[in-house]
Amino acid sequence: MNVRDQLVAMAERTLVHVRAGTTDRTESVMTVPAVNYYDPVRWQQEVERVFRRLPLLLATTAELHEPHAYKAIEVCGVPVLLSRDGGGVLRAFVNMCSHRGAMLVDEGVGSARRFSCPYHAWTYDQQGELVGIYKRDDFGDVDTSCLGLTALPVEERAGLVWVTLTPNPALKADAFFAGYDELLGACGFAGMNHLASRQLAGPNWKVAFDGYVDFYHLPILHKDTFGPAFPSEAVFHRVGAHQRVTVPRGPWESLESLPQDEWPDSLLTSGVWSVFPHASIAGFALGEYMIYQVARIFPGANADESVTHLDFITTAPLTDEYVARANKQINFLERVVRDEDYATGLRIQRTLKTGTRLDVVFGRNEAGAQYVHGWLEEILQTPDDGLTALFQRGVAAGRLVTDRQ
Ligand code: FES
Ligand SMILES: [Fe+2]
Repeated sequence: MNVRDQLVAMAERTLVHVRAGTTDRTESVMTVPAVNYYDPVRWQQEVERVFRRLPLLLATTAELHEPHAYKAIEVCGVPVLLSRDGGGVLRAFVNMCSHRGAMLVDEGVGSARRFSCPYHAWTYDQQGELVGIYKRDDFGDVDTSCLGLTALPVEERAGLVWVTLTPNPALKADAFFAGYDELLGACGFAGMNHLASRQLAGPNWKVAFDGYVDFYHLPILHKDTFGPAFPSEAVFHRVGAHQRVTVPRGPWESLESLPQDEWPDSLLTSGVWSVFPHASIAGFALGEYMIYQVARIFPGANADESVTHLDFITTAPLTDEYVARANKQINFLERVVRDEDYATGLRIQRTLKTGTRLDVVFGRNEAGAQYVHGWLEEILQTPDDGLTALFQRGVAAGRLVTDRQ
């Protein structure tokens, strides 16, 4: 099925729920051991078996449009350098000098044709080749071809950039994406402009990520901000390990009076696009343009901490007036995530750590989190040589059934 047909099918599924007053539920309630959210051994396994084996969403194309653009970012203890060459090819490297390991570039974005180490000035080009050694004679007959930067697998798809933190990953990228990247492509991120980046400190990455696939809390926790505009119901469109979430209410009925080939792209691509294991993308209109929040959650220094990178990209040209307007909206969103979602999450982290409850409970309506936890368990138990097959096969956790809203 082509991309538009798949998006139309998702819209039809949502519309069926709207007409019938039904929604998605799972077949049963799921419990997750509370200790999974704070145990350091479990956390280390998640870092090694999930975050170091799967592609992670590290950047937007919008940050790296120009030839010679670079971005340095440290995730899960691995400093990564993304660099686009003059011909437009984007590469990823470990941000580490081959001489004695200094970090080549400070975290952030910029433009560079060469990367010169701040320690002893060894210099690398955009292909990662070592092209200059200060006082070269002191290194004898050194073979520079073995002293290039360590390359990491990078996938630039749908205007988003994924990097795997392992040079030779077992998981095949196409199996991981399962075509979800093509659906994301319909959102048009590749042509958008970068507005702003923010970072937030949060609780265990799963406490934070559970919140991004949970619509149940919207009218409650966010009652003083945007909550009243949202129902707590959600429809889940699963593709591989990923899921797009729409709400079975709102503008979908407007499609009834339109022939299918006139269904607007804006509605066909609406909702929250969640990318396993750690990203969530949501758009909102501001004036005649769209702004997308691209949130990525990374495990922090220990089981009780995470770091969330929020990047905001837009369909709008970056005029001073629009940027000022957008920044007001972005500040508001950042406040909601920090003071409502993460303030709650950080307290959850403390209560769970008391050890006084054995499990947390996900209801039949909390299908998004059930699916995430189902995938997580399977991946943790799957050795390298079975990972691609797991992604091709999928998991049975949190099977969906239709139920009354
Ligand atoms: S560590 Fe980079 S040049 Fe010495
Ligand atoms: Fe929230």
